[in-house]
Amino acid sequence: MTRAKIIGIGSYTPERVLTNSDLEKIVDTSDEWIISRTGIIERHIAADDEDTSDMCVEAAKSALDMAGLKETDIDMIIAGTVTPDYRLPSLSCMIQKKLGASNSATMDIVAACAGFIHGLSVAQAYIATGTYKNILVFGAEKLSSITNYDDRNTCVLFGDAAGAAILTASDDESGILSTYLKSDGNLDRLLYIEAGGTHTPYGQNGDFRKQDTCIVMHGNEVFKHAVRYMGDAAARVAKEAGFTPDSIDLLVPHQANIRIIQATAKRVGVPWEKVYLNIEKYGNTSAASVPLALDQAVKEGRIKKGSNIVIVAFGGGLTWGAAAIRW
Ligand code: ACO
Repeated sequence: MTRAKIIGIGSYTPERVLTNSDLEKIVDTSDEWIISRTGIIERHIAADDEDTSDMCVEAAKSALDMAGLKETDIDMIIAGTVTPDYRLPSLSCMIQKKLGASNSATMDIVAACAGFIHGLSVAQAYIATGTYKNILVFGAEKLSSITNYDDRNTCVLFGDAAGAAILTASDDESGILSTYLKSDGNLDRLLYIEAGGTHTPYGQNGDFRKQDTCIVMHGNEVFKHAVRYMGDAAARVAKEAGFTPDSIDLLVPHQANIRIIQATAKRVGVPWEKVYLNIEKYGNTSAASVPLALDQAVKEGRIKKGSNIVIVAFGGGLTWGAAAIRW
């Protein structure tokens, strides 16, 4: 089977920064609580007129540039998101239009924070079968649009960002060596948005309460599952790829909580200096988290040709997944 590799990576974060001290003025919280319980210091928030697709287009431009491709070279766009511009059409259609990627098929993936890794796995399968040549995979969120800024349990966690990766067939030893995806729909009520679907459609039964249109999370329960499943998934793909803990150059985990990341690193057996962290600057950007971190790690020289990388993410659904990559 043909292996897929990432030949271009890019990301975008909005200009506006929301700090912990800004949040102290909005809800009953403290800089000390947020840092000690999560590791987050600030997060970026998109402008009112800035849609998820706008952030994706900026991320895609950098990825195309790195890959040396034009928009029209893209055969398929896959977008992992829970915050598309519209319920219909898809985010990937909006990206196609704004980017001018007129030769592409499009699809969205709803797997919360694990959306990018799900997209990567689907792209890899299409490349392996020779169905598509150049696939643009996004993880992108405007979480501020579904965050309840009256709820201190969630509003301190989330930020906005987009990340993009271009995959094509590998002609050398590099590429995606193994992937793993898993879900447990029985844990649906640990992390959800009540309104907007068929169960509680907009426009019926009078007006919605604002909180019904925003993320609700039972953080403590989610935390326990995240610690277990992120570690297991990352260890599993590393083993399948033939990576020993020593041969892993960088673990790039979903940036939801520094304590979850510490537990994941311990389970995989990699020392702290081999873990990529940017949670303090961006918080939890859901599907954007892993591609944003990957892009920054590449730009900072922490990922080079031949590096052995493990990426792993976990989110609402519950959904989780991981991939082992030789860069
Ligand atoms: N400031 C101050 N106090 C707070 C805040 C806050 N922002 N938020 C909660 N607290 C309080 C709670 O009310 C509670 O007080 P109480 O004991 O008087 O009731 C206390 O702090 C402890 O609350 P916990 O929820 O037990 O705190 P915990 O240590 O679990 O940290 C957190 C909460 C940070 C949310 C953590 O549980 C977590 O990171 N969970 C996982 C999140 C995650 O990975 N989500 C998946 C991805 S998100 C997605 O898919 C979109």
